[in-house]
Amino acid sequence: MNILKALKDLKDRYASPFEMTKDGIMGMNQRNVNYISRYNRRDLYPLVDNKLLTKKIALKNNVKTPVLIGSIENQHQVSNVLEIIGDHKEFCIKPAHGSGGKGILVIKDKSKTTGNFIKTSGQEITEHELKRHVTNILAGLFSLGGKQDIALIEDLIHFDNVFSGYSYDGVPDTRVIVFQGFPVMSMMRLSTSASDGKANLHQGAVGVGICLNTGRAVRAVQHNEPITIHPDTDKVLSELRVPHWREVLELASSCYDMSGLGYIGTDIVLDRDKGPMLLELNARPGLAIQICNNAGLLPRLRLIEAMTKKHRLSVEQRVAFSMQHFGVFKD
Ligand SMILES: Nc1ncnc2c1ncn2[C@@H]1O[C@H](COP(=O)(O)OP(=O)(O)O)[C@@H](O)[C@H]1O
Ligand SMILES: [Mg+2]
Repeated sequence: MNILKALKDLKDRYASPFEMTKDGIMGMNQRNVNYISRYNRRDLYPLVDNKLLTKKIALKNNVKTPVLIGSIENQHQVSNVLEIIGDHKEFCIKPAHGSGGKGILVIKDKSKTTGNFIKTSGQEITEHELKRHVTNILAGLFSLGGKQDIALIEDLIHFDNVFSGYSYDGVPDTRVIVFQGFPVMSMMRLSTSASDGKANLHQGAVGVGICLNTGRAVRAVQHNEPITIHPDTDKVLSELRVPHWREVLELASSCYDMSGLGYIGTDIVLDRDKGPMLLELNARPGLAIQICNNAGLLPRLRLIEAMTKKHRLSVEQRVAFSMQHFGVFKD
């Protein structure tokens, strides 16, 4: 390939650092130095890195999360797992320190004929296999750095079917970045066949920027390129709208009060019967959300930083402020 053409392609595809700051796009270094290390106290990290602790503080602060059925903290307790599960026919087992969906086992029923557990895929697993999975979680097979872990058993989320067709073989969640208690930017991540049912953008999931005022799709991106329909389901992405939007934002905003962390990513799912629920928190949320929204985070963060008396505002007042200032559509 002609080297000059290759360079020009590169220049067209990636804005220079100067152009990036001009558009208010925040880079990795800036996020780490000016936001994460300044606003997130290190000693609070375990509250978000450990899903069991997140659940405990959520419960204390009336932040809705899937109900904890039980936890298994050591090998000795593995033999009790069936007692902990009790009469629950549907539940989810996950590592407290997991990420990227690793080690998550979702059980939707128990077979009347075999007594086996039935996964969402329809595949059956025996009690023995279930216990082995828990043992693997405890051994750190799915946790960062292979450290010993805890297994959580929680209620199954019945995902609201308003999003059916928007996600391929996976359930969409809504990410809201919350800065000092103010929602500042949001997106949905939709899994695709390319992303193997996972919602990671770098694995080929679709990211949809969501208007903070209305919950409506702003634009959609796959592999950093704008797209208009879901590549597997042909659903028109601009028609996507998150219901209970104000409630989603209030839930996200209240995660600041419960965690004390100033700059967080909140992942929220919609349960058919229970409405918006917090799935997990992230103290180092990614930056691609800016590409999905075609907008930079910096002007929004600076507006909040410059506000006086913001600490006196309630969750409802902070959300009203964000809806008014960071929306794209009026209704
Ligand atoms: N309680 C649950 N019920 C049903 N599915 C769940 C449940 N918890 C997690 N999942 C599925 O697993 C995915 C990842 O869960 P999450 O708790 O965010 O873990 P991770 O940190 O690995 O991303 C979710 O997007 C969802 O598809
Ligand atoms: Mg997750």
